[in-house]
Amino acid sequence: MSTAQATGERVTALVEAFKRQFGKEPEYIVRAPGRVNLIGEHTDYNDGFVFPAAIDREMLIAATPKADRKDLNVHVYSLDNNASDIFSLTKIEKSKAEPWSDYMRGMLSIWQACAFKVRAFEAVISGDVPQGAGLSSSAAYEVAVGTLVNEMMATGISPKQLATLAQKAENRFIGVQCGIMDQFISAMGREDAALLIDCRTLASRAVPLRLKERGLAIVITHSGVQRGLVDSAYNDRRRECEEAVGILAKKLKRPEMKALRDVTLAELKKNEKALSEVVFKRARHVVSENERVLEAVEALGRDDVAAFGKLMYASHDSLRDDFEVSCPELDAFVRLARGFKATIGARMTGAGFGGCAVALMPEAAVAEFKKQVLPAYEKETGKTPTTWVCKAAGGASVIDSPMKRAGL
Ligand code: GLA
Repeated sequence: MSTAQATGERVTALVEAFKRQFGKEPEYIVRAPGRVNLIGEHTDYNDGFVFPAAIDREMLIAATPKADRKDLNVHVYSLDNNASDIFSLTKIEKSKAEPWSDYMRGMLSIWQACAFKVRAFEAVISGDVPQGAGLSSSAAYEVAVGTLVNEMMATGISPKQLATLAQKAENRFIGVQCGIMDQFISAMGREDAALLIDCRTLASRAVPLRLKERGLAIVITHSGVQRGLVDSAYNDRRRECEEAVGILAKKLKRPEMKALRDVTLAELKKNEKALSEVVFKRARHVVSENERVLEAVEALGRDDVAAFGKLMYASHDSLRDDFEVSCPELDAFVRLARGFKATIGARMTGAGFGGCAVALMPEAAVAEFKKQVLPAYEKETGKTPTTWVCKAAGGASVIDSPMKRAGL
């Protein structure tokens, strides 16, 4: 089934649900994708480089603004949870009863905090990005809400600004101190391409993956381990990176130094003794991972897919040993995937501590991979993996709106 077909069927179900809930047609339909990060993990909040692709799994929203402009209650129905939530735009707080609505609430709260106008609306939401899997279901949700209100209110902000607002919603409203990668790629993804993003300047470059032409498949496998303890461990890693910067800025006499982005591997190694063992390892991951991202993009540029794959393995090793954000199951998966001779590269993807791994391999090898590697994984770990081949999709978009229908 093509992506367009899959989206088409889900849109039909969404529209039907909207009609059932609200007794009319939705005026707006938007989508925003999840993502898989090919390389560049835990580098975004260190002002570094990342190389993610948006995937053909997404959050969809159908909505219609309330006819009565004085009515300030947003009414949202979640098709996936079969639950409704109503909240007022005058005072937006987190919901204890319907926590799934918090990303909608958070995005609208940030929107208003930026003095952008919002009208109340009725909406139906539905997503097929697996939750808690490290594929950015929450970023897809936030970016979809931003895409909706940007179109509905003709706010006119750019996808990049929208990504920044979505990150703020996650940081300030949801309370997760994530970097910019997930929201950025959800807003800015390109079909059949991954984006090299400089998380300091927010400059980005689409690098064609040419999966079909190269006969390659991006295979995502959920380890069967729900991500645990992510927030606290994530914040610990952030703190350790900041500690490294503080010490290295003094040692290298560069008070202007802001992030591990500013350090070379040689400088880091020279100052190893000034850092605790743990902080040194954290810094070594970030500094070497930044180098790997640039090398990986360069390798793709010269069509050296094998070199790209080696860097994926090296990234996993570094995340396992130096950054310590993998888990035994993800390690087992990458080891088994590596043992399957057609695999070009594999690594955990996302924040870690469970969730998904990504592997790159010839499309022709996928069936055999599933036959050999998945049962071996299940046997070794006792966990049931779920695998799917994904396409690199375009970033968030408006599927239908009055402007679109008018051909604008
Ligand atoms: C999560 C965060 C991202 C990024 C990754 C790790 O997905 O939301 O900002 O830090 O972890 O690379």
